[in-house]
Amino acid sequence: MRTLSLLTAGLCLGLNAWAAAPDANEPVQPIPPAEVADPAKVELGKQLFFDPRLSKSGFISCNSCHNLSMGGSDNLPTSIGHNWQKGPINAPTVLNSSMNLAQFWDGRAADLKEQAAGPIANQKEMASNHVLAIDVLRSIPQYRESFKQVYKIDQITLDAVTDAIAEFEKTLVTPNSRFDRWLKGDEKAITQAELEGYQLFKSIGCVACHNGAALGGNSFQKMGLVEPYKTDNPAEGVAGLTGKDVDRFMFKVPTLRNVELTYPYFHDGAYWDLDDAVDVMARLQLGRQLSKEDIGKVTAFLKTLTGDQPSFSVPILPPSTPQTPIPTPFN
Ligand code: HEC
Ligand code: HEC
Repeated sequence: MRTLSLLTAGLCLGLNAWAAAPDANEPVQPIPPAEVADPAKVELGKQLFFDPRLSKSGFISCNSCHNLSMGGSDNLPTSIGHNWQKGPINAPTVLNSSMNLAQFWDGRAADLKEQAAGPIANQKEMASNHVLAIDVLRSIPQYRESFKQVYKIDQITLDAVTDAIAEFEKTLVTPNSRFDRWLKGDEKAITQAELEGYQLFKSIGCVACHNGAALGGNSFQKMGLVEPYKTDNPAEGVAGLTGKDVDRFMFKVPTLRNVELTYPYFHDGAYWDLDDAVDVMARLQLGRQLSKEDIGKVTAFLKTLTGDQPSFSVPILPPSTPQTPIPTPFN
């Protein structure tokens, strides 16, 4: 009898869930499509994003670590940089990064433009320096011409380079996921199990940190709120910047948009399986042990967050000239 009533209760819950349509106060909003104010800027930024000549080796572009064929990430625990150097931290996706309140895991860059100057001169990433990278661009007539047209400048500057890259990145949004279609009223866009996953996501409290259009990116939170996170990675989060103990292990909450594509997970890239990442989150952030079934539902929901990926023709880069500094991949 007891089992039966539990069962009926479960069924009723299920039925209610099926009936549940989004209400006006959902803590998650659909992603708006990109608005392109200046297509020429975006096109130039796209070229720069794909141009490996911004690196010392002539081999590493932004797209090497933020591969737009792989959810804007490299699917590695930590990136491989210049001279096969092991990166210190997992590369976050560039998709929807314009929605972040700040850039990097610790938020040390205010916006995309400020961020873009970082990797070019980072000795472990692209290992160039800004002077060299700008010299390379200045030696290429087609780039000179493009910057002249788009930015009305005679000399290419770092400011214009990072601006163009940022303008391109702002177009890397992923609207129209199945979940967004559900939010907009298409009740058939997600399944019963996926809907139950969303309801769990809200009721157990994931949504406290993963909310807004990007389901993250809008706050810094402690990793290991209830139970400490064990890792060999030395990153300390915001404390690395402020030196304050309260900021230890405070990281920018990652977006969960396209999370099915951006494995492995967490700042150390230690978890490859989304089910495991959900289990870790429930235990460490909320003190909850979820059943295998519930983990499956939450994961099923998370997979409905994969949206339309940016799609465009691969940019054809202008050729180098005899004046272009030659790449030095091996020193
Ligand atoms: C060698 C790999 C590598 C290359 C090349 C690289 N990045 Fe990154 N990128 C990373 C890593 C790793 C991080 C995270 C670093 C951190 O938070 O400390 C990151 C962070 C970012 C972020 C912040 C995302 C967020 O959610 O905080 C953006 C945006 C970004 N990179 C764009 C670029 C652009 C534009 C270029 C080219 C100019 C570039 N990256 C080149 C590895 C790379
Ligand atoms: C107290 C805030 C908080 C809560 C609650 C929370 N998260 Fe997180 N979440 C974070 C932070 C911070 C990170 C990044 C941690 C790190 O990388 O060290 C993260 C990372 C993740 C990641 C990995 C994303 C990636 O790209 O690496 C997933 C998946 C995730 N959370 C899902 C969930 C789910 C599901 C729940 C509920 C069971 C949840 N989170 C609850 C703050 C939170």
